[in-house]
Amino acid sequence: MCGIVGYIGENQAAPILLEGLSKLEYRGYDSAGIAVFNNNKIEVAKAKGRLAILSEKTDGGKSVHGTMGIGHTRWATHGEPSDVNSHPHLSNSGRFAVVHNGIIENYISLKKKLMDNGVEFISETDTEVIAHLFEHYYNGDIIETMIKVLNRVEGSYALGVLCSDYPDQFIAVRKASPMIVGLGENENFIASDVTAILKHTRNIYYLEDNEIVVLKKDSVKIYNADKEEIKKEVFTVDWDVSAAEKGGYEHFMMKEIEEQPKALRDTINPRIKNGKIVLDDISLTTEDIKNINKIYIVACGSAYHVGVVGKYVIEKMCRIPVEVQVASEFRYCDPIIGKNDLVIVISQSGETADTLAALREAKDHGARILSIVNVVGSAIANASDDVIYTWAGPEIAVATTKAYSTQLAVIYLIAAYMAEKLGMLTSGEYAKLVSDIEALPDQVAEILKSKEDVQYLASKFFNCHSIFFIGRNLDYAVSLEGSLKLKEISYIHSEAYAAGELKHGTISLIEDGTLVIALATGRDLFDKTVSNVKEVKARGAVVMGVTTEEHDNMEDVADYVVKIPATNEMLLPSLTVIPLQLFGYYVASLKGCDIDKPRNLAKSVTVE
Ligand code: AGP
Repeated sequence: MCGIVGYIGENQAAPILLEGLSKLEYRGYDSAGIAVFNNNKIEVAKAKGRLAILSEKTDGGKSVHGTMGIGHTRWATHGEPSDVNSHPHLSNSGRFAVVHNGIIENYISLKKKLMDNGVEFISETDTEVIAHLFEHYYNGDIIETMIKVLNRVEGSYALGVLCSDYPDQFIAVRKASPMIVGLGENENFIASDVTAILKHTRNIYYLEDNEIVVLKKDSVKIYNADKEEIKKEVFTVDWDVSAAEKGGYEHFMMKEIEEQPKALRDTINPRIKNGKIVLDDISLTTEDIKNINKIYIVACGSAYHVGVVGKYVIEKMCRIPVEVQVASEFRYCDPIIGKNDLVIVISQSGETADTLAALREAKDHGARILSIVNVVGSAIANASDDVIYTWAGPEIAVATTKAYSTQLAVIYLIAAYMAEKLGMLTSGEYAKLVSDIEALPDQVAEILKSKEDVQYLASKFFNCHSIFFIGRNLDYAVSLEGSLKLKEISYIHSEAYAAGELKHGTISLIEDGTLVIALATGRDLFDKTVSNVKEVKARGAVVMGVTTEEHDNMEDVADYVVKIPATNEMLLPSLTVIPLQLFGYYVASLKGCDIDKPRNLAKSVTVE
């Protein structure tokens, strides 16, 4: 995905655009560019590499003059990171400048037609097609031209467009890629997300798909695809700017790890009233719950790992069959699913292309959609029958931590809520479960107090070439997340394995000194996992055990042990994952990796 910012007002646009883009670099950071209207033409400055290079090239924006402009920070999809492939892209005449987040799926055929008409392309990108289409269809009316262009392109897009014939306004539109409109005093903005413009205004519009917005410095008008003006509700953002700043931490990731107790409280507490779980205003009735035939959980990456926990927890508590699938597989597997099936869609950004497509596939089959999302007004939230927001606040680090943890908390709330409605819990069991869920934030805070213990262990293992995570049942589900955290920020190869599965092949990879991180927190399977620890130890492995304070014999078999507080077995993933997040962070830090912006990654993958 990429980051887009646009500005029109009375101040110089370039510095505002660069500052806004700096808040969006987590969305993509292999190149950046700005286009500003000045002296009846559009000036463009762009550069391969991090935003700092563009900022240096433009003296912090001072060398680019004008009070209206658009900016872009890129995560390359079509065409390698380079100056020429950076956005904004211009039409041949220079009349139009375009920034784009998303993918134009039919750009090849459009590009061929345009080239047959004599259009010269200079980049390898899909986006450049849009700039030339504007030129091709331009009839003097920028909105009509936008509508004609949108009728030709297929795919996903958030677009910002400057036209040199319109010195006092610019336009924007979105489809399946995020875009908000910031409403200021004699100035207005567009951005891929709120963090880019929160410094200037808290009042925003969340754009819906195919809504065209025309921004002047003193007015914002929104039109539908029939060029009819539509009215929208202003949304006031209530979290503060510091929520999107590092706040003295070296990395956003550590800040967000430390924010987990608060994020959990903010997510859990509003949903427990007088000892009862209340799930916002979801429309799922007790009758609906009783009629659920099957639950699917669909997501990507860490959100998928939450789904794996969800399967164990919901099946254990509700005795409803749960199938969990990665969204990129679900969307193409022609799922056997119908109106009595519930699909739980999990996504931090609410914009992940595969997850959104899977949601639509499920909806086409008549299933009911309940989503767990962190970004209010995002595409997945808007497309769902019900949405339960994780109140984690903005998550900037590419490697998710607080969003993952709050997603887990919502899964527990849903499972407990449904179990109670299904009469699967006695009142005492329900009360104890609710109380254990409420205790999680403090228990996470307790674990974080000993983070230096994990830092010490990281210092012993940050040079490993391959690290195994093993566990059974819920511990296996968490081992998936621990392994991904390590891989994505430290670039060390790692595998997560069901502990009982090792002996069916992978144990052949264990040799002297191989680090195996064994998660053994559950009571019933503790001894089984200890047996697996002995198996790998016998083949030379070094074992770091993660277990609860209840198990005092892990020290007998493991070389190192990390202890977490005991709690309801179903809730242990929320505690087990904390040392694993810290381990990945400290290993990556010791390796000197770019923790908040790992290579090749982006915060939300809004392309297939
Ligand atoms: C996890 O640390 C990664 N950032 C990635 O796996 C992420 O969880 C995945 O891309 C899903 O993103 P979403 O939650 O925004 O849909």
